[in-house]
Amino acid sequence: MEAKDLWIALITRVYDQLLYKQSSVFAGRTDVATVTSWSAPIIWEGTFDSALIDSIYQSQNLTIATTVFALGKYTCFVKDFLESAEEHYFVGFRVHYYLFTDKPESVPVVKMGEHRSLTVQKVQSLNRWQDITMNRMEKLEKLIENELANDADFIFCLDVDTKFYARWGAESLGHLVGVIHPWLFDVPRDQFTYERRPESKAYIPAGEGDYYYAGGAFGGSLEDVHHLTKTCREQLNIDAANSIEAVWQEESHLNKYFLLNKPCKLLSPEYMWRDINTSAAQIKIIRFTNVPKNYAEVRPNP
Ligand code: GAL
Ligand code: MN
Repeated sequence: MEAKDLWIALITRVYDQLLYKQSSVFAGRTDVATVTSWSAPIIWEGTFDSALIDSIYQSQNLTIATTVFALGKYTCFVKDFLESAEEHYFVGFRVHYYLFTDKPESVPVVKMGEHRSLTVQKVQSLNRWQDITMNRMEKLEKLIENELANDADFIFCLDVDTKFYARWGAESLGHLVGVIHPWLFDVPRDQFTYERRPESKAYIPAGEGDYYYAGGAFGGSLEDVHHLTKTCREQLNIDAANSIEAVWQEESHLNKYFLLNKPCKLLSPEYMWRDINTSAAQIKIIRFTNVPKNYAEVRPNP
């Protein structure tokens, strides 16, 4: 193991065990659960000390690979996504954005900070938004395999129809990280929109499941996210061969994956909110949010 990998392995554990769980701020939130039944922290505003976290993580020259997909009219979201990320996302860290698009010529020029860069990769156009969203797993699997090995320490895979409004930083790092879905964080488990047909590989029976995770944001170490994307791609392929498409496509398979492979850290819906004009008592800060959109205008099919 290289020294840096060892450092990462140690610090993510120290962070999770000491900085988070034992810290006085951890006890600061009583209105929300701040730890899962398998002892993974759930990150909410008021549960971490951002200056302390930054001072620890910034010693290591970490690079965060960050992927987004903008096909068809979704290219209209790229500018706000990148500009707001430059303002709020892993400020002070190395960030390498990978943008997949079928229209590279339409990618706007966005001024990047020091140690921050953008790589644009051309992908083929697809006719159904369901295929576009599902196809991401395979593209991510191949990106990690072919290009990231010596280029990044962590990866986050994000939706592009989004915008940052506040800090998203090193408090989010861990080897496998999921984000709790903004519409389903305070509803009983039987209302989770898991795939309920046993014929699908994404099937989760009634009474099972921990959380409902958003498909629009997940991340972790290259190794863990490679395993996640490879597994989801394989399960999607099996479903396709059986002529079944899970109710929320790759999000359904991600939820199945996280049921069987528990994330070591969960991010609260502050990290993937409904939209900037919606509020909830538990949400003290909106860090990253969906952008309201006219589906008929931006999607290639209903
Ligand atoms: C919606 C969201 C979908 C999917 C669904 C799950 O709010 O727009 O992408 O996540 O929730 O129920
Ligand atoms: Mn989206």
